[in-house]
Amino acid sequence: MYWNDMREFLAHLDRKGDLVTVAKPVSTKFEIAAYIRKSSDTNGPCFVFDDVEGHPGWRATGAMYATPGRILDALGVPIDQVTRHYIEAINNPVPWEVVDGGPAKDVVITGDDVDLATVPIVTHSEKDGPFITAGVQVAVDPDTGVHGLGMHRMEVFGRNRLGLWAPNERRIGRARLKREERGERLEIAVVIGPDPCTVLGACARVSHDQEKYAIGGALLGGAVKLTRCETIDVLVPASAECVIEGYIEPGDTQMEAPFGEFPGCYGGRMEVPVMTVTAITHRSDPIFQTVLTGFPVTEDHLLNWVPMNAVVYEDATRVCPGVIDVTVKGNYVYEAVVKMTKRHQTEPWNVMSAVLAGNAQAKYCTVVDQDVNIYDDREVTWAVSTRSQPATDVHIFPVMVGAPLDPSAPLVRQTSKMGTDATKPLGAEALRYEKVLVPGADEVTW
Ligand SMILES: Cc1cc2nc3c(=O)[nH]c(=O)nc-3n(C[C@H](O)[C@H](O)[C@H](O)COP(=O)(O)O)c2cc1C
Repeated sequence: MYWNDMREFLAHLDRKGDLVTVAKPVSTKFEIAAYIRKSSDTNGPCFVFDDVEGHPGWRATGAMYATPGRILDALGVPIDQVTRHYIEAINNPVPWEVVDGGPAKDVVITGDDVDLATVPIVTHSEKDGPFITAGVQVAVDPDTGVHGLGMHRMEVFGRNRLGLWAPNERRIGRARLKREERGERLEIAVVIGPDPCTVLGACARVSHDQEKYAIGGALLGGAVKLTRCETIDVLVPASAECVIEGYIEPGDTQMEAPFGEFPGCYGGRMEVPVMTVTAITHRSDPIFQTVLTGFPVTEDHLLNWVPMNAVVYEDATRVCPGVIDVTVKGNYVYEAVVKMTKRHQTEPWNVMSAVLAGNAQAKYCTVVDQDVNIYDDREVTWAVSTRSQPATDVHIFPVMVGAPLDPSAPLVRQTSKMGTDATKPLGAEALRYEKVLVPGADEVTW
């Protein structure tokens, strides 16, 4: 689905009636986030805020990815094909193209003129500080030369200082650690408002040797156009709304504010590395993008949805060829559902074990038959209610690594896990398990 930039996607949403322009002045403190919260809770629209108080020349957008439908629109595929489509892109990357300049460089601000206060960075949840939440960070791995992309929150600490929460197992965190071990600074760019496929490519959970710009290109169906930064040797999407350039000096850290995290609770406060900003470049009429994280479901969850499905699918299919489709739900990390055709009575046990031990770090895995719509919670609950016996079909794994940021975990990332086999027994009397349907109900209109 080729989008030249984020604006083409906004125009598409507008044509569909899925975009609301807010003309009245709005504050970056809570007010923009409140719009996104309400939209997320009501399957509402994407917003463009025309008048952001205290930020002349800037507009802002939020809730762009706040519904599954808009993620599917961005990728251009129906829901039952989305996970395999994403895996295809991972397996068939499309190299990028380097261009001179680009709209992201309409305005270039460097040195003492840099001031993050001019950028409408949003404060989202009650106890948060101002955080960039829709930034795609880009840093080059010093060993492989791979351009690493990720999405990580960044708190504003001052005129030219941004905190970065990217743990060492993430590629941005790993690149920083490698530089730090050599006593070197890490050059890093933060891209705000690239095209949606580049954002979804950045969220991929793949080997650190794989180029995510090329996954974005495969999702787009054509090369992502990249341009060189002004003050660092990093490539960024030429059509982005805004790029913040800078470096992380070894040992430069600062305590972060609390942050409303994806499980819907506050994570503990942390000392995080600090990026020193050397340049801000942006379009002549920039649109700042923000996404809400917090109580599920938000844009944060939905941006992770398809990339996480891809991980669950790979883990599940590795142990069982009968897997048909998968989805994560709930907070889009802790809960996985797998749909399969089983050929052996206990095959679902293999599947749930692989998923729960796998890279997605799920805490709960439910396995259902091929006649269950895994995208409809009612159907999954129905299968659990009518096709599983708690005494024999629920399997508890007493302790495993997983479920990051789970406040109920006795030790960090150590949690018990649960798998539920909600498939009917092989050879079961078919009629007793059959879903009761009314013929013609799908076709009725009024
Ligand atoms: C909106 C959004 C915000 C995110 N914030 C963080 C974050 O602050 N810290 C983090 O470690 N991961 C965060 N993630 C998840 C990472 O971006 C995701 O794991 C990404 O794939 C990292 O890539 P890597 O595993 O290849 O390094 C966020 C994801 C999204 C969609």
